[in-house]
Amino acid sequence: MILVAGSSNLDFVVRAERIPCPGETVLGQGFRTFPGGKGANQAVACARAGAATTHFLTAMGADNFAPTIEASLRDAGVVAHVVRSDSEPTGCAFICVSADGVNAITVAPGANSLLRPEHLPALAGFSHLLLQLETPLPTVAAYAQAARQQGVIVVLNAAPAQALAQQLLDNVDILVVNEGELAVVAGHQGNVADCLRHVQVPNVIVTLGARGCCARTPTEVIAQPAFAVQAIDTTAAGDTFCGVLVAALSQGAHLRKAVRVASAAGAMACEVPGAQASIPCASDVDKFLANQSEDSETSLQMLRSYCGVH
Ligand code: RIB
Repeated sequence: MILVAGSSNLDFVVRAERIPCPGETVLGQGFRTFPGGKGANQAVACARAGAATTHFLTAMGADNFAPTIEASLRDAGVVAHVVRSDSEPTGCAFICVSADGVNAITVAPGANSLLRPEHLPALAGFSHLLLQLETPLPTVAAYAQAARQQGVIVVLNAAPAQALAQQLLDNVDILVVNEGELAVVAGHQGNVADCLRHVQVPNVIVTLGARGCCARTPTEVIAQPAFAVQAIDTTAAGDTFCGVLVAALSQGAHLRKAVRVASAAGAMACEVPGAQASIPCASDVDKFLANQSEDSETSLQMLRSYCGVH
């Protein structure tokens, strides 16, 4: 079994030609709400990957937003453990998506800020714990420590970016970050290889958007070029990557295979609007991968050279 612990948000999404600059107003072209939140998205991705039973620990308000998110979790087959707050509303995210699919997100955490160390369920039977940073840092650190003490593999997606104590990182087996998050966690500016030298976690995966991703383990560096898709909304592409990655690892996949499947699923999530609404199921990812050719030597070389790895 896999446990995902983290945020649930209702996403308020408006599409616009471009994302406004500070102080600017742009006219958008449509408004929709979607179930979101990095934690909930990753739980849905894990469950849709169909590997192991996915449990999800989260906090929501006693309001009209929560049932939409709970229904989405249920439809995906996630077993939800919801801490209910009477004082804080369900988390909300305000998202602007530009014509080229890029987003800017502001989160009002609401009930997500109430998730506490004592809410962690018994970990017996769980092989992996997947965490993000949209819930309080002391809670994330306590969950990682409890999991480590009980032999559960800890995967941390350090998003949104923040500097992290080595005490927390010492309890992380696999860190997943994008390039900006890597620089913040590393406390260093430079290319991917430079920044990786400053991160003391055994396995680090850096997602690089349309370039692909790069994974550094104690014994190897894995480069996975991106799969070409028509991106209309990149929201939850990273969450899809994390959830599918952990699902594949829980089935015993080698990291190289897990990264490839996760990359394919993340790319597919960019082709559909919304967060949880865009996350593909395992059979669709399998079909997508069956139609892809081997990564070319040129694309591998370009990615390795961008990252500064050889
Ligand atoms: O990663 C995408 C998610 O970030 C959105 O669903 C939004 O809720 C924010 O948490």
